[in-house]
Amino acid sequence: MKLIIANQKMGLEKSNLEKYIESLKKVDTSHVIICPNNLHMEAFKDFTLGAQNVCGLDTKEITGEVSSSQLADYNVKYCIVGHSERRQKYNETDEDILNKIKKLLANKIIPIFCIGETHEEKEREKTLIILEKQISKIFNNLSIADIKKIVIAYEPIWAIGSGLVCDYKTIEKITIFIKSLVANYYEAKVNVVYGGSINDKNIEKLLEIEDLDGFLVGKSCLDIDKFVDIIKKSR
Ligand code: PGA
Repeated sequence: MKLIIANQKMGLEKSNLEKYIESLKKVDTSHVIICPNNLHMEAFKDFTLGAQNVCGLDTKEITGEVSSSQLADYNVKYCIVGHSERRQKYNETDEDILNKIKKLLANKIIPIFCIGETHEEKEREKTLIILEKQISKIFNNLSIADIKKIVIAYEPIWAIGSGLVCDYKTIEKITIFIKSLVANYYEAKVNVVYGGSINDKNIEKLLEIEDLDGFLVGKSCLDIDKFVDIIKKSR
């Protein structure tokens, strides 16, 4: 069964939560990870929880941040790291991402590590080089045991929130590329998910990609009827 990871970003308001959660409770969500913003963590406590971000620094004295041990206290099992929105808008570096991943692993939280190329890099046929670089910057600094715990999310930047889903054959090719790279260089088997403009229509075709372990869904997880449809189709 494939994982469905809901990246709610800042998309849900408090007033929408009751209806959303009621509808979610009516379906089998054993394969679903909900990543609410931290204010809504408690409301989603009956589901498998993921966080959208974590502090990677050693101190507890950073205003506005949340630590991995605090996430663990709230029974958070997964956390998104390296999302392109954070890399681009908050200038998160590979070093920041590595620190976050180490903190999460120390608290037994599974990192959902996002990688992906820009439109320009895709046009210049640089995708595989970019992905390899993003992976090696992190994985060269982790043990094999830790690498095995990480979920890699392939999210082409041009596909996020654009309505342009990456084509089936490319996702399949890139999933196999990532898995063989990690197997060859790090002797580890990792799970790979795809994210970028997934919706209740294109999910059916994407589900046919055998090597892929799941999906990271942004915008389409905010409309509960569409999201329930995606959850049911992916069973
Ligand atoms: P999207 O977002 O589904 O709205 O493209 C995916 C993501 O940002 O993880």
